[in-house]
Amino acid sequence: MNSINAVSSAKLNAAKKAVEYITDAEIIGVGTGSTVEVFINILGELKSEWRDRVFTASSIDTILKLGSLGFKVIHPASIEKINVYVDGADEVDHNLNMIKGGGAALTLEKILTYYSEKRVFIVDFTKLVDYLGEKHPVPVDVQPYALKFVCSYLTRRGYNPKIRYPVKGKYGPVVSDIGGVIVDVQPPKKFNPLELERELSSLPGIIETGLFVGLADYVVVGYENKVEVFKRKT
Ligand code: A5P
Repeated sequence: MNSINAVSSAKLNAAKKAVEYITDAEIIGVGTGSTVEVFINILGELKSEWRDRVFTASSIDTILKLGSLGFKVIHPASIEKINVYVDGADEVDHNLNMIKGGGAALTLEKILTYYSEKRVFIVDFTKLVDYLGEKHPVPVDVQPYALKFVCSYLTRRGYNPKIRYPVKGKYGPVVSDIGGVIVDVQPPKKFNPLELERELSSLPGIIETGLFVGLADYVVVGYENKVEVFKRKT
């Protein structure tokens, strides 16, 4: 099996396992991305079992995907809590800290994650890293008026900020679902996730960061022929 197929199988295995975590949930939060899309499609195949559940989502993309399969999707502003939240991630370290936001949905993802009773992240094996930042920059969602101020600060700190541009389909920067501009930040190697999170989130103009520190209850890692589940140390 080639590596693309191995990753596809890994995503499928992780997504299948995630279904076990939502069996008792009344309100289910769903994140964004290609692994989550596999999860949504699995739910679609089991649709009759999920007809009474309520879903909420971290992006327009996920709202559309859930809606197209006939699921009931409600706006996060109309609920007080989420029983289980399922999402993907770009990188996961040994402490289950994560980088998210490869799909630009980091702000809503962090809100839904924080206010969920149980947080489950599904990743394929390529997402595991020794240190965050090995393969992916850290995205931040920036209020457009503050873009130059924020980028200038980040440059002075040596974080090499890059405004994200789409590969095709739009002129201009990638704008998040909440109207922020996505900036990818490259901190020094082996940075301390909690310290960086504190620094970035204290900056006026940064709406949210893609650093998820201490927010995963479970990380389900899919491999070609198995899954491994990591649980947060309490
Ligand atoms: C969306 O903004 C991201 O946080 C995704 O959850 C993350 O990029 C993982 O996406 P994939 O499952 O497509 O790799």
